[in-house]
Amino acid sequence: MKASYFTKYGPPEVLEIRELPVPNPSSKEILVKVMASTVNSGDVRVRALNASGLMKFAMRLLVGWSRPKRPVLGVTFAGVVEKIGSEVTGFKPGDKVFGLTGFRFGCHATWLVAPENSMVVQMPEKTKFEDGVAVLFGGQTAVSFLHKMRLPEIKQAKVLILGATGSVGTAAIQLAKYYGAEVTAVCSTSGKSLSAGLGADHILCYDVEDFTKIKDRFDIILDAVGKYSQKQCKHLLKPNGKFKTVGGMEYASETRDQITLLAEMLEKNRLQPVIDKVYPLEEVREAHRYVETGRKKGNVVIRMAHG
Ligand SMILES: NC(=O)c1ccc[n+]([C@@H]2O[C@H](COP(=O)([O-])OP(=O)(O)OC[C@H]3O[C@@H](n4cnc5c(N)ncnc54)[C@H](OP(=O)(O)O)[C@@H]3O)[C@@H](O)[C@H]2O)c1
Repeated sequence: MKASYFTKYGPPEVLEIRELPVPNPSSKEILVKVMASTVNSGDVRVRALNASGLMKFAMRLLVGWSRPKRPVLGVTFAGVVEKIGSEVTGFKPGDKVFGLTGFRFGCHATWLVAPENSMVVQMPEKTKFEDGVAVLFGGQTAVSFLHKMRLPEIKQAKVLILGATGSVGTAAIQLAKYYGAEVTAVCSTSGKSLSAGLGADHILCYDVEDFTKIKDRFDIILDAVGKYSQKQCKHLLKPNGKFKTVGGMEYASETRDQITLLAEMLEKNRLQPVIDKVYPLEEVREAHRYVETGRKKGNVVIRMAHG
């Protein structure tokens, strides 16, 4: 099989396309023919070991101290079950599935194995692989952070999404709308029409206006780009309001229910996949370069070819 492989941290040039053996599923695993994946801010960060201070220490412990423990990056996949282990009961060959591999990575390859009880679920039949895969990274992160702030329990919540046009931000707008919130999105002028199209009720362009001067008060503020602080936003919160940022030490905890929710939203046409660019696996370096700019709108998809 083909895979994007790296043996040392560094610029996109450390990635090379290698031929590797197709993995064999153990008794509790499924073998997936991967049709699409994404390059996320997380992949780029790990490839470059881009973090500082305590975060860098934690990152080295997780992904490999001096060289990567997992030479194939990629945490999202959409594809078709090819083969199942002898004890697998929840999937069968031919099932359309999508999911996340977390710190196991391994999705930038044409085949992967995943434990049956891991973050993998059936993908809606009508959803295209590239669309399905594009909602996973940002969607799972947004669900995790917004649920931790108890959004589903707040009636007609007022929600402020800072950094509304990235992978996490575009999903966060749609999730907040799904739960009936009134959403204010902060993005640049170039992201205004995207935010509006995703359902944001009010939009503030950070390159034109200072969002900290907003008169409104919010139940929930999510910094979906990791560039803002609670201190900056404290006065914008209602008395019981909550602030969280994706940029700190807090991780988006993963549960299977989160992807099941994303699948349901796709099924009901309540979640619009936002795809900025699609690259073939062979152009994975280009994809990393683009994601590394920090300016992508939504998601960057990797398309797998099966000869
Ligand atoms: N803690 C966790 O568990 C967790 C999980 C996932 C992701 N993350 C972190 O979350 C962050 C966001 O991830 P992502 O994949 O969504 O990022 P991304 O897609 O790469 O974000 C890019 C977007 O951010 C916008 N942006 C850049 N600077 C901005 C600013 N100052 N204000 C508002 N918007 C701005 C850009 O729009 P413009 O160019 O138009 O400004 C662009 O659309 C990353 O730092 C990632 O590491 C954390």
